[in-house]
Amino acid sequence: MKKILFVCLGNICRSPTADGVLRKLIVDAGLEKRFLVDSAGTGDWHIGRAPDPRTIKFAAKRGYDLSVLRARLVTQDDFDEFDYILAMDKSNLANLQKMKPAHFTGHLGLFMDFAPHLEYREVPDPYHGDAEDFERVLDLVEETAQHFLKKIV
Ligand code: 4NP
Repeated sequence: MKKILFVCLGNICRSPTADGVLRKLIVDAGLEKRFLVDSAGTGDWHIGRAPDPRTIKFAAKRGYDLSVLRARLVTQDDFDEFDYILAMDKSNLANLQKMKPAHFTGHLGLFMDFAPHLEYREVPDPYHGDAEDFERVLDLVEETAQHFLKKIV
């Protein structure tokens, strides 16, 4: 089984969205025995909380139920547990690179590097934004998650 961890800052907007979108693609393709998906944050402000209400609302409109997810911090143990650790932006990637133990043999990188045809390399943080910013997160995540799954299947 391959395990995939999405990481953003608060674990209440971008990484839960990627978590829910990839999870649904995997279930719809009947691949749940082959892949496990989770998400975490590098900041601790929202630990234990459900995703941002706006994240839940815009995802629900596209058929993703993120309400059951709860924010947690990324840990050192995640590097032993996960095969792919995918950061939503460069600043989170830099923090993960500092945490990465020497024995980690998995893939640590930017999620959006799996969609090289898009002009974005980072999923922009929507936290201080509006509806358009949350829709953009979903657009980028849906497109990139499809390419990522195709690549790892
Ligand atoms: P996320 O968005 O990293 O996509 O979950 C954010 C959520 C909360 C904060 C920043 C970004 N915050 O500063 O509380």
